[in-house]
Amino acid sequence: MEKAAPLETHRAQTKDQLRFITCGSVDDGKSTLIGRLLHDSKLILEDQLATLTRDSLRHGTSGEDIDFALLVDGLEAERQQGITIDVAYRFFTTPRRSFVVADTPGHEQYTRNMATGASTAQLAVVLIDARKGVLMQTKRHSFICSLLGIKHIVIAVNKIDLVDYKKDIFDRIVGDYVSFASGLAFTSIVPIPVSARYGDNIIQRSGNTDWYHGPCLLDFLETIDVATEINRLPFRFPVQWVNRPSPDFRGFTGTIASGTVTPGDEIVVAASGYSSRVKEVFTYDGQLSKAEAGDAITITLQDEIDIVRGDILAKPAERPEVADQFAAHLIWMDQDALVPSRNYLIRIGTQFTSASVTAIKYRVDVNTREHLAATTLKLNEIAFCNFSTALPITCEPYEANRRTGAFIVIDRYTNRTAGAGMIAFPLRRARNIAWQSISIGKSERAELKNQKPRIIWFTGLSGAGKSTIANILDQKLFALGNHTALLDGDNLRHGLNRDLGFTEADRAENIRRVGEVAKLMLDSGLIVICSFISPYKAERDMIRSLVAEGEFIEVFVDTPFEECMQRDRKGLYTKAKQGEIKNFTGMDAPYEIPAQPEIRLETVGFRPDELADQVLGFLRGM
Ligand code: ADX
Repeated sequence: MEKAAPLETHRAQTKDQLRFITCGSVDDGKSTLIGRLLHDSKLILEDQLATLTRDSLRHGTSGEDIDFALLVDGLEAERQQGITIDVAYRFFTTPRRSFVVADTPGHEQYTRNMATGASTAQLAVVLIDARKGVLMQTKRHSFICSLLGIKHIVIAVNKIDLVDYKKDIFDRIVGDYVSFASGLAFTSIVPIPVSARYGDNIIQRSGNTDWYHGPCLLDFLETIDVATEINRLPFRFPVQWVNRPSPDFRGFTGTIASGTVTPGDEIVVAASGYSSRVKEVFTYDGQLSKAEAGDAITITLQDEIDIVRGDILAKPAERPEVADQFAAHLIWMDQDALVPSRNYLIRIGTQFTSASVTAIKYRVDVNTREHLAATTLKLNEIAFCNFSTALPITCEPYEANRRTGAFIVIDRYTNRTAGAGMIAFPLRRARNIAWQSISIGKSERAELKNQKPRIIWFTGLSGAGKSTIANILDQKLFALGNHTALLDGDNLRHGLNRDLGFTEADRAENIRRVGEVAKLMLDSGLIVICSFISPYKAERDMIRSLVAEGEFIEVFVDTPFEECMQRDRKGLYTKAKQGEIKNFTGMDAPYEIPAQPEIRLETVGFRPDELADQVLGFLRGM
């Protein structure tokens, strides 16, 4: 199982480096193009070339010629075992520039890989087969490039030899592309007719295309001005580590995401607003008079101010917004669909927090860019969503800063990178809501009631006996003089949750709301008894995390599925078997068994009041 992988690996970027991505469909000749670039610019090592010539003859796909795709595909094959993000980065250098190429598979399912490759690229070479013209995939890839902030596009109209080097075919394809791309945010689109196989217009202008007066590919890649504005962007320094080797030294270590910093500069902590001045800037090699984007540094300050890992240091005049609700584009990358309302982890720079999607505003059809309604997101789908985070984060639009405006969504249980997000804007409403303090606290309220407030959470299959046991427990506690409240799934679904059904997302929202209500009641000093199927571990754990240690008591009502089906008090199992109810727990919807509940009630062979007594016994022993 793969680990959470960062979407971007920000290596220090030198001025003479170009990071680009190639995209195209499976047979557009991407590998051949990269192979040709490496070969013609004499970047293949001699021994590799010998192997290549031999393999080309053996495979015989190109007659006597070298099949350049074999070079690249050979590298690909090496990467195939156990590699999860199929992006191959290749590094090559010409006298004029060094290059990092992200090569991503062209298959329809690889939105994820493309997005990973595109997130750090400054330019995309979009391959179009001259015989096929602009395809759905060309559009999809271009859209993703634009979403990920790529501004420069080269359209390599490849296999131009196969259309007899005809100008009108080239012109038509270019026209089609430019009109399609008019809705995307590219600043330059440069079309080049090429034959990767024969080398036309790759490193030299081809005699076969007299009508073409533009640059050849390598020349263009070597000279295009993509001088990153990154140093001119506002100073952003995500603190990775607070370095305190001795009481009289306190440094803040990290990599500058954008902008520059000089000793003497005034800085502000984005979240808290505390400010100070930079005293010194260090690198591994000693003190610096100025540091810039990409530099890994340690900063010391003139004043002792509170700074923790995850904080972002900025300049006071350019302090980024901090918010706990924002809108963002989200590319979903996990085989398990996104469940709105569910808690995920997000990582933005060095900041980590739990977060959930509060609304999918719309899903984008990557082929047509149409906005569609959606309740969930599947692998490779893209949407515009509202997010809510547990902690405030610095909220910088991706458009303004690709380094600080990007985040990844991590599945808490699998630790997989489940999504990649690009912040659009903080939500205004988040800014105008403060906490109102309430004078009488939970403990005073509980003391008056002479009890310990708790949430007693019954979970189990439909018909397991949750509600029956909960009801008896409620009566017993009441008889003992306790102040209780009973929240029951069927009842809440008549009111507060009447808009919800039984999809995974609706159940997550059901439990989220119940959790909020239960917490309010808990804060009022009540013993809150809850009875919900609550089939997903994620939501049960989420409620546990809302309250203090020991306040959440998970009671797993463990009745075998067959037994529930046989009892079938509400006749729902019969209906589900007949296909009249969809998403029925235990049939076509899952029940995730609690791994470590506080109490497990095996119900078979026991009366409900005996089971309620077990819970009571547990409470007494606490
Ligand atoms: S939960 O899964 O979201 O926690 P909840 O406990 O609120 O469910 O509601 C479950 C009750 O709804 C069941 O006891 C049953 O009476 C009814 N119900 C109706 N449809 C379904 C279904 N598809 N799956 C499970 N329960 C259902």
